[in-house]
Amino acid sequence: MSQESAVSPYSYRNQPSAISDGKAPIGVFDSGYGGLTVLKELVNTLPHYDYLYLGDNGRAPYGNRSFETVYDYTLECVKWFFEQGCSLVILACNTASAKALRSIQQNDLPQIAPDKRVLGVIRPTTEVIGTYSENGEIGILATKGTVNSESYPIEIHKFFPETRVYQEACPMWVPLVENNEINTPATDFFIKKNLHALFQKGPKIDVVLLACTHYPLLKDKIQEHLPIDVKLITQGELVANSLADYLSRHPEIEQRCSRNGQQHFFTTDAAEDFDNHATLFFGAPVKSRFVDLSPGKETVS
Ligand code: DGL
Repeated sequence: MSQESAVSPYSYRNQPSAISDGKAPIGVFDSGYGGLTVLKELVNTLPHYDYLYLGDNGRAPYGNRSFETVYDYTLECVKWFFEQGCSLVILACNTASAKALRSIQQNDLPQIAPDKRVLGVIRPTTEVIGTYSENGEIGILATKGTVNSESYPIEIHKFFPETRVYQEACPMWVPLVENNEINTPATDFFIKKNLHALFQKGPKIDVVLLACTHYPLLKDKIQEHLPIDVKLITQGELVANSLADYLSRHPEIEQRCSRNGQQHFFTTDAAEDFDNHATLFFGAPVKSRFVDLSPGKETVS
């Protein structure tokens, strides 16, 4: 990136569409592209708000990384959203929600931004997922990090104590999606393999949740390999409905969200690559900008 093209994030902040009258877009964060499947549903459900999307593609995937690393990366990105003026940030990434959200909410926010809020995608999902199951047998498909965190079983049992939750990590699915290997024999192989392992654990599962924001791109393929009477649930709509409810209950936050119906996209990797992939996830053309989050280099171009 040339020096001429480097622009301080604060010049973005000063654009009228980004922050005006003390209002700013809702921040939407993911390790890469997956959060765009959530953003798509947020825009469908709440189209009048502005959204600022950041994909940490330069450091993705997060799925196999340690708690400490996911926490450090996520916090860094959350601080970036706050610098842009956002009062509300959604972690549209299950791995970040599982490994970083609680620490950020409990330890960091009170110190760095007590009047701002960071929400995740696990709570909005777990508080309703039990209503989809007839027999209380729920299957979770997610990254290794999300599965190992046990966040889904723990949270689902808070709302639906009688349910039985079975998990299966699908470490190949994110790389397959990121490499656009969606309709290939390799994808069939890994989907069959992971579904087989899940149903070995819970043969009576009647609801399967895609607990990774990348997986909706594999929904049709997964459906092909699922028994006909098993419901397949994606999160985007659940998160969007939950956000609508949250904003109606928190006018102090809602009033600080700008409403021009715009979406702005940023990535920590090459913007052109991001744009080429992002359309698949977002369902509409995307024009992103690069942001360098390395210390002392917080620039966009
Ligand atoms: N989008 C992330 C999630 O929902 C998965 C991608 C990654 O491993 O970085 O868990």
